[in-house]
Amino acid sequence: MPTIRERDSKVVWHPYTPMKTWPEAIAIVKGEGLYLIDEDGKKYMDAISSWWVNLHGHANQYIAQKVSEQAAALEHCIFAGFTHEPAVRLAERLLHILPEGMEKIFYSDNGSTAVEVAIKMSLQYWSNKGVNKKKLVALQHAYHGDTFGAMSVSERSIFTEAFKEQLFDVAFIPFPVIGNERNSLDELERQLLTGDVAALIVEPLVQGASGMNMYSPEILEGLFELCRKYNALIIADEVMTGFGRTGPLFACGHISVSPDIVCLSKGLTGGAMPLGVTACTKDVFNAFYDDDRMKMLYHGHSFTANPTICAAALASLDLLLTDDCAASRLRIAASHAAFASEIDGHRMVAAVRQTGTIIALELMTHESSYHHSLRDTLYKFFLDKGIIMRPLGNIIYVLPPYCITNEELQYIYSCIRELLETL
Ligand SMILES: Cc1ncc(COP(=O)(O)O)c(C=O)c1O
Repeated sequence: MPTIRERDSKVVWHPYTPMKTWPEAIAIVKGEGLYLIDEDGKKYMDAISSWWVNLHGHANQYIAQKVSEQAAALEHCIFAGFTHEPAVRLAERLLHILPEGMEKIFYSDNGSTAVEVAIKMSLQYWSNKGVNKKKLVALQHAYHGDTFGAMSVSERSIFTEAFKEQLFDVAFIPFPVIGNERNSLDELERQLLTGDVAALIVEPLVQGASGMNMYSPEILEGLFELCRKYNALIIADEVMTGFGRTGPLFACGHISVSPDIVCLSKGLTGGAMPLGVTACTKDVFNAFYDDDRMKMLYHGHSFTANPTICAAALASLDLLLTDDCAASRLRIAASHAAFASEIDGHRMVAAVRQTGTIIALELMTHESSYHHSLRDTLYKFFLDKGIIMRPLGNIIYVLPPYCITNEELQYIYSCIRELLETL
């Protein structure tokens, strides 16, 4: 009888995977809290929350129960002309916790579509108002997803190389490197002074895919304030940072200026099912609220606001909003901070950075790139230790589900220490 992994290699094409040179995929048959268990019974700690989606551990029984109840009552229905309790309740609850000013929730399917919708909203907002603002501004190193709009507002990199001629022009401002933040603010102001900036889009405080690059709340606030001053919309892509990753529920919660549009996905359902949300202010919504049908938002997906998935999101919110979950996030952040100060200055550590439950280590190498030769060695090193890590080139990071225990964190740190000594 062939194994799942043998059958997989004959029929499946995996994401972000060099199919010719990469070994067969590991077949997971069970999830259990922090652990994923493969078909041979080997357990892996999911130190990266399965691409940053999982909040409460795998196969969470509470979420599973709520999903099962909803699927048995109403699994799906069209969301144009119809609505249902899970979508309405989820919108109400999200608006209650989102940064101030958010008043409407638009559903889609994943992080990229949440960004796509935000881009379309911001561009059509100005065209509906008859104002000629068409330029989008993004941060150097940005990653906002894999659809064409999302790729356009992302850094031109190996991710986008094959499609670069098809991407639309975006103005990229320098990443706010510590000590040189003025550059980013000045360049944003220069762009805004042209008068044609429709919106700024940022990953607030932490840029995920480009290597867990972090910047301060003061700079985030400075960027937002400039957009306010020059009347450009602000899109906060909280697809990765949302739902407590950086400490507060949203990274924008670190500052006092609110965005106009917020993108959510990943942790929205606790990582159990795919869902995207684009939240916006009343002002944004009002630009589409018109007798003229040409002013409505021409966007929607077949599975918009799927009730079963909304039930997963509601269940995840129940767990997220407990005192226990808040305490776990503080505990993880404190543990990361202690480890960061211990290894800072190690001969093999070029930089260590931490925001909330995310810690990242840049290893000392001659060059830094996604396909860095060290990457596969690091990946295998941790896999052999029973830890799932997906290094971003020479950068390793721990971004765990909130159910991780202190002992499990210490085990991961001890493997990192061992790695540093073997390099
Ligand atoms: C900040 C950010 N935005 C958007 C996306 C795209 O999300 P998805 O992979 O669900 O399309 C990602 C994915 O990593 C992300 O980190």
